[in-house]
Amino acid sequence: MKIAIVGGTGDQGIGLALRFVKAGLEVIVGSRDVKKAENTVNLIKNMLKDEDILNIYGATNSEAAEQADLLIMTVPLQAQMGTIFSIKDHVGDKILIDATVPLDTCIGGKPVRYVNVWEGSAAERTAEFLKDEKPIVISAFNNISAASLTNIEEDVNCDCLISGDDEEAKAEVVKLAEKIPGVRGVDCGSLENARIVEKITPLLINLNIRNKIKLAGIRITGI
Ligand SMILES: NC(=O)c1ccc[n+]([C@@H]2O[C@H](COP(=O)([O-])OP(=O)(O)OC[C@H]3O[C@@H](n4cnc5c(N)ncnc54)[C@H](OP(=O)(O)O)[C@@H]3O)[C@@H](O)[C@H]2O)c1
Repeated sequence: MKIAIVGGTGDQGIGLALRFVKAGLEVIVGSRDVKKAENTVNLIKNMLKDEDILNIYGATNSEAAEQADLLIMTVPLQAQMGTIFSIKDHVGDKILIDATVPLDTCIGGKPVRYVNVWEGSAAERTAEFLKDEKPIVISAFNNISAASLTNIEEDVNCDCLISGDDEEAKAEVVKLAEKIPGVRGVDCGSLENARIVEKITPLLINLNIRNKIKLAGIRITGI
């Protein structure tokens, strides 16, 4: 499976790319600027200490979306609409995983606060923007910190809470998430539950700050 990480040059995109390349999946790092995407690929190869890794390359967001089977969008809320606009011709029928968390930072505020969006969650906003193109929008990877993803010597101690309205797609995303050592994928029901899941992230950021750590995560027990 070929995965495009749209807006993949930031911390979250790099972390996911590292883990999926390590798991043997083919990854395209997308950016508005192909040079930035290529530089990020070189950085990832250096982090994996192997220049000969062939299953990763850089492209524009649009090219990445066109070439991939499955897309993961890792951009801040203020970039969401522009990024979607740049990929919309290539999303139809594909799974589009939205990892966006609407943090108050996007309007100059604090990362420990969630900012409400009209549609209820960032993932539902993505689905609304793309209602004509009809990709299968799934919310996932919102709570797993980039710090834990890039800490490649260690397993990730966090569940991946997955929300969406397509059962088969969610099952595929569970399998994808579980390619990351330590991660358990948890089907959290319909896409509107992204409203709850996205709000957990500012809480985890708060816990990181309060405890002077970087690796706070969440586990669901009893299932
Ligand atoms: N970082 C974490 O630990 C973490 C954890 C869970 C969830 N998340 C969520 O995942 C998403 C990505 O997080 P991140 O920390 O990787 O974000 P980031 O570094 O701020 O941004 C990621 C990429 O988005 C593009 N971008 C940034 N601002 C833009 C703008 N105004 N217009 C268009 N493109 C823009 C840039 O790519 P190009 O310049 O290459 O186009 C940038 O490298 C966010 O919604 C965040 O809340 C992050």
